[in-house]
Amino acid sequence: MNAARHSEPDSQPVRDEAWFAARASRGVQGLKAYDPGHDLVAFRRRFAAQGCASAAEGRMPGAAVESLVELGSNENPYGPSPAARAAIVDQLQSLHRYPDPLGADLKRALAKTHGVATAQILLGNGSHELLMQLAQVFAGADDEVVFSRYGFAVFALATQAAGAQRVIVDALAGDHPTMPLGHDLDAIAAAITERTKLVYLANPNNPTGTWFGREAFAAFMANVPAHVIVVMDEAYAEMAEAESDVATALPLLDAHSNLVLTRTFSKAHGLAGLRVGYLLGAPGLVAVMERLRESFNVNGPALAACEAALGDDAHLQSARERNAQQRAVLVDAFARRGLHVYPSQTNFVMVRFGPDTARIEAELSARGVVLRPMGGYGLPECLRVTVGNADENRRLLAAIDEVRS
Ligand SMILES: Cc1ncc(COP(=O)(O)O)c(C=O)c1O
Repeated sequence: MNAARHSEPDSQPVRDEAWFAARASRGVQGLKAYDPGHDLVAFRRRFAAQGCASAAEGRMPGAAVESLVELGSNENPYGPSPAARAAIVDQLQSLHRYPDPLGADLKRALAKTHGVATAQILLGNGSHELLMQLAQVFAGADDEVVFSRYGFAVFALATQAAGAQRVIVDALAGDHPTMPLGHDLDAIAAAITERTKLVYLANPNNPTGTWFGREAFAAFMANVPAHVIVVMDEAYAEMAEAESDVATALPLLDAHSNLVLTRTFSKAHGLAGLRVGYLLGAPGLVAVMERLRESFNVNGPALAACEAALGDDAHLQSARERNAQQRAVLVDAFARRGLHVYPSQTNFVMVRFGPDTARIEAELSARGVVLRPMGGYGLPECLRVTVGNADENRRLLAAIDEVRS
């Protein structure tokens, strides 16, 4: 090391983000970090402080905190199975130990649930991690990755981070009679070239809520060349009603070793705080993905809680039913207010509020109602609304009426 420079530690200018970005890998240079929506922790603190002020003025203590309506992140308002909570408490005895690096018990439980072999399962710190890792493993510079225009935001992020080319396929038209803005599977198939490495699909999709059916998906898979890996993001699969025609990749895994699906414990299982997702696919693909998996990427309490959650079918069923019932309440309420609601088989609905959307969103958040703006998706006249419980939905609708009047 140069002695003169060593003796002048303060002589270097502070390097800014642009300086470091110029030194990052090509994909990361142009990347924008994932937008998680509002800073909810700061939001809760602000509202808590307002609650204290209300209390000091003799109003109901904590009223402002209780009035927060958090419907921006598609979480499950009913929370996890009591068995999952108990499993976490049990795990507190073992926090000084590393978790099982293989996650073998959870994999066995998942294998039983889905009728697959444990060698077909990869565990992730949320399915977001697995979606990123798929691109990192299978796509590089000059490769193409295909996805729908309003497909889940992580598809674009993962592609760009891997340095691959995004091939964004137009969605179905906004006035499509059944699935406005949904995935156009024919157009996606037509966009595949020799350079395509991956196709990302989300079914149902976030943020649109739209879906495609079993027959259409089987026909799509029959068309996809074997060199292309198709990733089916099924984060909301458990929220789809039993009688709906939402396709899952599960029954097609045996016939297509280029097909993988990802799921999560964050939504229907109510365990978003633990960050656990999983991938199902061919054992060979899982083995290659394993090469890049970080050691102990799923923590001990999370492994135990997810295993317990899988054993509580009644809880899952109840979350699905309550969500469907409350979703119908919201869809009806929005329609009665003349607002366009996109079809959904998920725990959220996308709603078109029109040219006034930004003002409405700002006024709602000032009242403690958190929704997700859609400007980042190129849909600035829409907001994504998580289906809350009955009380949250009532307060949401009252606030909407206030700010729109
Ligand atoms: C479509 C979709 N896929 C994947 C995820 C990631 O979920 P997680 O990382 O919590 O498993 C989300 C989260 O909102 C999602 O909406």
